[in-house]
Amino acid sequence: MRDAPPPDNPTLDPSDWEAFRALAHQMVDDALDRTRAVRERPLWRPLPNDAAAAIDEPLPTTGIGEGAAYEQFRRFVEPYTNGNRHPGFFGWVQGCGTPLGAMADMLAATMNPFAGGFDQSCVHVERRVIAWLAEMMGFPRDASGVLVSGGSMANFIGLAAARDARAGFDIWNEGLQGDARSARPRLVFYASDQMHGWAGKSANLLGLGNSAYRRIPSDALGRVELGAMRAHIAEDRAAGHRPFCVMGSAGTVSTGAFDDLDGLADLAAEEGLWLHVDGAFGAWVKLSRTHAHLARGMERADSLAFDLHKWGCMPYEVACVLVRRDEDHLRPFGIKGHYIQAADRGPFAAGLPYSERAIELTRSFKALKVWMSFKAHGLETYARLVDQNIAQAARMAELVRAHPRLELASEVVSNVVCFRYVPEEARGVSLDALNREIMFRVQESGRFLISSTTIDDRLALRACFVNHRTRTDDIDELAAFVVELGDRESSAPEEPR
Ligand SMILES: Cc1ncc(COP(=O)(O)O)c(C=O)c1O
Repeated sequence: MRDAPPPDNPTLDPSDWEAFRALAHQMVDDALDRTRAVRERPLWRPLPNDAAAAIDEPLPTTGIGEGAAYEQFRRFVEPYTNGNRHPGFFGWVQGCGTPLGAMADMLAATMNPFAGGFDQSCVHVERRVIAWLAEMMGFPRDASGVLVSGGSMANFIGLAAARDARAGFDIWNEGLQGDARSARPRLVFYASDQMHGWAGKSANLLGLGNSAYRRIPSDALGRVELGAMRAHIAEDRAAGHRPFCVMGSAGTVSTGAFDDLDGLADLAAEEGLWLHVDGAFGAWVKLSRTHAHLARGMERADSLAFDLHKWGCMPYEVACVLVRRDEDHLRPFGIKGHYIQAADRGPFAAGLPYSERAIELTRSFKALKVWMSFKAHGLETYARLVDQNIAQAARMAELVRAHPRLELASEVVSNVVCFRYVPEEARGVSLDALNREIMFRVQESGRFLISSTTIDDRLALRACFVNHRTRTDDIDELAAFVVELGDRESSAPEEPR
């Protein structure tokens, strides 16, 4: 085997494969050691100055070599994450990844396939994965689908498919604007005021405008008020607008609430509208032995978006959008480039099935980590993990209810707990300020991480459980820590501001 290239023929392959092999083994060993010890490492700490300075370098013109580059990563980059790998991380909705998923991503990168299509294994793997996911979510097994970077992108695709399917005119060719002769109705869609922020971004990017996104009030349990939605649809029709889509949440980001998805599916059918469901994390309750009923009706959606990198614990980035009818999925994304010619032989005979179902033409082999993870762990394990997190949320709620200085800020429906510390005696500092301070202290402790949300215009602490590393005793410790911090903060002498 001729390893060394001639000097006038530069390449990016290692100049010494054996030395690189040793370095690569070291990288894997270090990565596994660090993951294994994640519980003992601080959850979060700010980037020290030397690390920030080492990263903030001028554009390198001369290389320092693989070993030196790795050393900089090891010292200055790897230790300073926001902590979502840690078992005590309960902030926002961030997944913690798995060692197998990380290795699968590495293997995918060594294959480095163009996973938009072609007759190659990655396309077969993605097709199988989409069929599995469709089955898991109660969709027809031949539903269309694609893996994308995250929930925002998956939801965006669902809304784009809805818009183009139900606009009543040819958006691909004419856009929303039409010309001087076309008096176009205003396209409008409906979701609760609890819908995640992707919807506003998408309304803008799809040319609909944020006022086309009708924010419908939600009830005390965070569920969209179907009567108010129905009334708004009627008003819009009377005003000459064109409703095209209603959306539901399977797990709202703020409190983990579930819309009445069966009710929404009935409403969509009666009104002739598209139903899109955002199940970014909550769609996974479908696997639960105790809480699957929350997602009832989700399987009736025209499109469903959900992440695999949140409650599915796979490493960033990977999410899925399912679209019930293939022609609807293809309509906004099908490729009509003159430079792409169909082939009846060779690798391109298989076409570009995935480039034609998402925005990206070139895409990575995200399906490998899903395929290997499902094969290695089995769905049964994922179901147990979902139930474990739901039980942890229930445990946290129980501790909050039981403590005289803690109160729940909303009903605990699934895996999100919103709560407050309430001192026995108010001492001038507002409850919002006190709880915000507790949140920062928890975050800065390096032991746990919780975030916050706003419920009825008041701040609530928020713990979201999607972490397969968390143990029940972590929950007990977190509750005790919040009380300890709250007691300390509320009895501390007030500092002049
Ligand atoms: C309910 C919901 N929808 C959508 C998203 C966006 O997903 P992603 O962060 O994967 O883009 C999130 C993120 O937390 C979410 O909680």
